[in-house]
Amino acid sequence: MWIFGYGSLTWKVDFPYQQRVVGYIKGYARRFWQPGRVVTLVPSKDPEEKVWGVAYKISEEKQEEVMAHLDHREKDGYQRTPVTFFPQEAALKPWELIIYLGSETNPFYTGPAKEDEIAQIIASAAGPSGSNKEYLFQLAQTMRSLNINDNHLYSIENKVKSIIENINQKT
Ligand code: SIN
Repeated sequence: MWIFGYGSLTWKVDFPYQQRVVGYIKGYARRFWQPGRVVTLVPSKDPEEKVWGVAYKISEEKQEEVMAHLDHREKDGYQRTPVTFFPQEAALKPWELIIYLGSETNPFYTGPAKEDEIAQIIASAAGPSGSNKEYLFQLAQTMRSLNINDNHLYSIENKVKSIIENINQKT
């Protein structure tokens, strides 16, 4: 079984896996539209739009344990959804895997918001899984290390960094 991570699952890997493959899924856009603010995927108008992330192969004997762990970890609005995964390595063929998707009908879905508003929230929010800044910076750092372009992500990262700099200058 394979699971694809596009948010914290790309950098907070607290489950055993056999193999890790970088690649993308199509027809979605990564948006900070779950509370906290953390990311979910929203259907894109462009069926070719890509969301890059990391796919993990879970062994058969660990499958039940990992699914139970991730179902609990992603319980606030995320549901397992099958999608097609396209590996970065051109020699590999696409395959089906599972993502944790916070669809527009989930009770935690915040809906569209301006990047400035999202940045203001992220600069000060913290939740049970830690600080929201940490989530954003870790995700942006991971995507940068994979040479992935994501305007929404990097634009919010820059805005949060300037908010923090402004606060630090005042104190
Ligand atoms: C994911 O990482 O794939 C799901 C969203 C999250 O946990 O940030």
